[in-house]
Amino acid sequence: MTACIGGHPQLSRMERTVVLSVLCFILSVRFCSSQTYVLDDKLGLGRVFDGIGGLSGGGATSRLLVNYAEPYRSQILDYLFKPNFGASLHMLKVEIGGDAQTTDGTEPSHMHYENDENYFRGYEWWLMKEAKKRNPNIILIGLPWAFPGWVGHGKNWPYDFPDITAEYVVKWILGAKMYHDLDIQYVGVWNERSYDSKYIKLLRYTLDKNGLEWVKIIASDNLWEPIAFSLLLDSELSSAVDVIGAHYPGTTTVKEALQTEKKLWSSEDYSTFNDEVGGGCWARILNQNYVNGNMTATISWNLVASYYEELPFGRDGLMTAEEPWSGNYVVESPIWITAHTTQFTQPGWTYLQTVGHLVDGGSYVALTDGKGNLTIVIETMTHNHSVCIRPPLPPFNLTSQNATFQLKGSFAFIKELQVWRSQFNFKTNKPSFFEKLKPLKLLDGSFTLNLAEDEVYTLTTITTAQKGGYPDPPPSARFPKAYKDNFNTPNPLFSEAPYFADQTGVFEYYRNLTDPGLHIFTLRQVVTQRPVTWVADADQTISVIGDYQWQDLTVICDVFIERMYTGGVFIAARVNKGGESVRSAKGVFFWVFADGTYKVTNDLEGQTVLAEGKSGTRAYGWYTLSLTVNGQYASGSLNGYTLWKNAVILNPKNGWAAIGTQSFELAQFDNFAVVAD
Ligand SMILES: *[C@@H]1O[C@H](CO)[C@@H](O)[C@H](O)[C@H]1NC(C)=O
Ligand SMILES: *[C@@H]1O[C@H](CO)[C@@H](O)[C@H](O)[C@H]1NC(C)=O
Ligand SMILES: *[C@@H]1O[C@H](CO)[C@@H](O)[C@H](O)[C@H]1NC(C)=O
Ligand SMILES: *[C@@H]1O[C@H](CO)[C@@H](O)[C@H](O)[C@H]1NC(C)=O
Ligand SMILES: *[C@@H]1O[C@H](CO)[C@@H](O)[C@H](O)[C@H]1NC(C)=O
Ligand SMILES: *[C@@H]1O[C@H](CO)[C@@H](O)[C@H](O)[C@H]1NC(C)=O
Repeated sequence: MTACIGGHPQLSRMERTVVLSVLCFILSVRFCSSQTYVLDDKLGLGRVFDGIGGLSGGGATSRLLVNYAEPYRSQILDYLFKPNFGASLHMLKVEIGGDAQTTDGTEPSHMHYENDENYFRGYEWWLMKEAKKRNPNIILIGLPWAFPGWVGHGKNWPYDFPDITAEYVVKWILGAKMYHDLDIQYVGVWNERSYDSKYIKLLRYTLDKNGLEWVKIIASDNLWEPIAFSLLLDSELSSAVDVIGAHYPGTTTVKEALQTEKKLWSSEDYSTFNDEVGGGCWARILNQNYVNGNMTATISWNLVASYYEELPFGRDGLMTAEEPWSGNYVVESPIWITAHTTQFTQPGWTYLQTVGHLVDGGSYVALTDGKGNLTIVIETMTHNHSVCIRPPLPPFNLTSQNATFQLKGSFAFIKELQVWRSQFNFKTNKPSFFEKLKPLKLLDGSFTLNLAEDEVYTLTTITTAQKGGYPDPPPSARFPKAYKDNFNTPNPLFSEAPYFADQTGVFEYYRNLTDPGLHIFTLRQVVTQRPVTWVADADQTISVIGDYQWQDLTVICDVFIERMYTGGVFIAARVNKGGESVRSAKGVFFWVFADGTYKVTNDLEGQTVLAEGKSGTRAYGWYTLSLTVNGQYASGSLNGYTLWKNAVILNPKNGWAAIGTQSFELAQFDNFAVVAD
């Protein structure tokens, strides 16, 4: 690092800047070979920084996290939320569960039915409390993806009765405070779906009426347009909305969004496989969302990849924690890339106006707390090493370069900066992340960096940062080959049984107080009406579990149909799809029905029937089903007697085990067991 420009005392500051820039530009060609970037606050500042966040949900992306044993679960939470440790996130956005499939599973609603209220379902409450425990200042945000069916009065649309929808959402915010002492600071409208101006105004009114004037509204978690147009045309709407949140904006915004003078956020971004290119994507957008698009917050979908990897968008989280049965987790590069910003600035700091692109590619931002502290973040991610999943990244060139930064204004007299560096080192495949280098001594407020390709630097007056760490977690292992659960020891914190990942419907612990003894504690499917969906939920309910690679295995479960005459339940093996594609799931499905029949199908929709006949099954009786799949053959038994055998299964070759119901109906499951070869 060389100081490559000096002062020229008889010129005014402004002249000096011009002269030096010209000088250095000329020199850069021959001697100095460095471009100069001025960082100055004296002409005014840029926008106020609002934070970097992670998104849990949309959907069920933290499902497996809750089932980690200690100390691993707390370690993962520390890497995400603990200040001066890892990602040290400023914001946590969660899904307001709507009982429907929202990408990688369903999340339970606080109101399954119109007269039902329960603020202890799912894991988002727990997660928000764990985040707040570590960082009391963390900003909490809620957003619905889907709604229980009653909210839409049977229509797949939440705005026909906007007052009901607004009350439903506001109850969730009130419940967060009342039962968990959580202050939700921002709420959204309907994730990546239409908004309705009347509804947004009513939501504002309902918040205010309930003493939640301080809760701010984000709209519309979709594109910049048309919400920006609506805000410009409708001043009442504009006064209801505080933030325009766009998704996957590709670091740019539109003129109309700037004209609204609202805060602009990338309220969902990233969604990229969390290898080193994913880390590169994250580094580039964290800087350039502000530099190119004036966005003052960026939120990663998702927070932590804690769902079965074969579900859609496997491993698209800041880190990976998808093996609660082994305790193994992986702190991926996006955690340390996040730290480059989060550990050195806080919501409420202000960007300088002097931010931008580096001449030979890359970008720099600078922020200040207004009390003399300065943080500079520089990234030089090359195109191919920073591609995000969407939108397409236009080509650009980037080469190694020398960059001189000249601090001016309040920062002119800074004598020393802390230096933190990440080098992706794609060529040697030996990356180094978030490394603390020797502090940099400044001469005349200037310093020069030799920037290589694919690097991230933070230069800062902040001295509190740390690269946190724990001993290596246990090695990775596959889901146990023999697994069982009698649901008799519900974890008081969670409503769902370990490892079951609901893909349509919601499966909850249930306690039957009048049962004489055998089935007091069960797992119950509780969604009885098709929700206002976000994607194409199946017409059946289904929860998957286990190892996607399972081929030959036996699944056993006690089942209890609760719908007279027309009800039906299944157990299944080799289930090959979930998430948004759950409707087209194939596998081996063994059904029994309340009308006294059974069926074996090759698909969840029940189109391809492999066997069928009489079972004598009725509602309100317990039956033990057993399904064995071996190579191309499957057989099934009821209460220990073979009901059918040698059904031929050509496809799929492997998949999860599952349980479910034939429609949105109540049903119970008990003494689940699986043994794989
Ligand atoms: C948006 O950002 C650009 C580039 O930093 C800046 O020139 C412009 O003034 C900003 N506009 C607003 C309205 O913040
Ligand atoms: C910078 O921030 C620290 C707290 O992180 C504070 O103690 C200090 O006064 C601030 N100002 C300067 C110029 O360092
Ligand atoms: C980037 O990737 C494209 C497509 O794979 C390839 O053609 C190109 O050579 C790569 N560029 C560099 C600089 O590696
Ligand atoms: C990148 O550099 C190559 C070689 O100099 C040039 O042909 C190409 O147009 C450049 N691409 C961009 C987007 O500037
Ligand atoms: C950067 O500056 C060093 C001298 O400090 C010089 O050796 C090197 O060639 C320069 N690199 C570039 C890319 O200009
Ligand atoms: C609860 O148990 C009683 C006694 O076995 C049974 O009659 C009743 O159907 C059960 N109710 C539910 C909802 O499981």
